Amino acid sequence: MEPVIRKAIPDDAKAVASVINSVILEGKYTALTNPFTVEQERAFIEGLCNRSALFVAEVDDEIIGIQVVEPDALAHYTDSMQHVATVGTWVQSNFRGRKIGQLLAEASFKFAHAKNFKKIAIQVIADNTGALRFYGNLGFKKIGIAKKHVKLEGKFCDVCYLEKFLTRDEK
Ligand SMILES: CC(C)(COP(=O)(O)OP(=O)(O)OC[C@H]1O[C@@H](n2cnc3c(N)ncnc32)[C@H](O)[C@@H]1OP(=O)(O)O)[C@@H](O)C(=O)NCCC(=O)NCCS
Repeated sequence: MEPVIRKAIPDDAKAVASVINSVILEGKYTALTNPFTVEQERAFIEGLCNRSALFVAEVDDEIIGIQVVEPDALAHYTDSMQHVATVGTWVQSNFRGRKIGQLLAEASFKFAHAKNFKKIAIQVIADNTGALRFYGNLGFKKIGIAKKHVKLEGKFCDVCYLEKFLTRDEK
């Protein structure tokens, strides 16, 4: 069945937390280490600003993937980075490789463009070759590596910085 992509509503909190937490518990794909409660997830969805969105992918009415697009963390403190967004993507393990992430990204990029973001900047754990390939396919370019930037399960990991411009006039 074709996945349905739509924006999350507060009542999706339990299903959204379940997807993110399943990836956190895998312990190697995200810098996040602490599972979210349903209440935290509901507060996050309710608190999304006008330039943020959490898109969900549903198959057979079950949420199996999500992508959040929001202003870069520094944009909370400065006007100089209002053009920079960031995204995070989580797909349940048994649904990976079925273009769910790609469909989510199409919705997020359209949203980001409409909200006047000019670029998207992300960080990916350097060992996460699947995610690097996924984002590379979406047009992200690797711009640098931060050494030993996160510590997961007692082991330091390098982190890749990637960026993608949303407008043709940029490089
Ligand atoms: C990375 C991720 C978001 C991609 O979503 P997806 O729905 O599996 O990806 P799509 O099917 O849209 O795209 C497929 C591409 O992603 C890559 N990919 C990454 N992980 C994959 C997996 N477990 N199975 C199959 N393909 C995977 C493939 O290389 C493929 O590219 P290719 O066709 O050139 O080989 C998803 O695999 C995931 O949630 N992984 C764990 C969490 C994670 O790493 N999130 C990103 C952290 S920043």
